[in-house]
Amino acid sequence: MPFMEWSNEYATGINDIDNDHQALFMFVNDLHDKISSGDSQEAIAETLAGLVNYVNVHFIREENFMDEAGYADLEDHAEAHRRLSARVFGLKEQFDEAPQDFDNDAFLEFLKGWLTGHILYTDMDYVPVMKEAKVGEK
Ligand SMILES: [Fe+2]
Repeated sequence: MPFMEWSNEYATGINDIDNDHQALFMFVNDLHDKISSGDSQEAIAETLAGLVNYVNVHFIREENFMDEAGYADLEDHAEAHRRLSARVFGLKEQFDEAPQDFDNDAFLEFLKGWLTGHILYTDMDYVPVMKEAKVGEK
């Protein structure tokens, strides 16, 4: 069983968003596999950099969709994105500076908890508004 398993409960039904969320699950699983198989620090750092980058690409896409759909809670949602993005980037820097002191398991659990919680409780809130506006389904 993968570290993060996708299931229907995470599906928003908005294709572009679901594709991004699935890609984020894959990044976290890839990171988990590299860490648990004892892959090199370079390989782990590269995956981590890819994850940080994709998190930001996804957040921008999602915020643009919320904006396009006229979603009322865009500012609060974008603020949650900024906080998370800063936290993940800070942890990536900690890893890059001192990988031997880095708590890999805590980091992976943090990513898993954040990603599933954010999708289920924060992202789901914009779904009816985006569907109504037919945003992000092309
Ligand atoms: Fe979000």
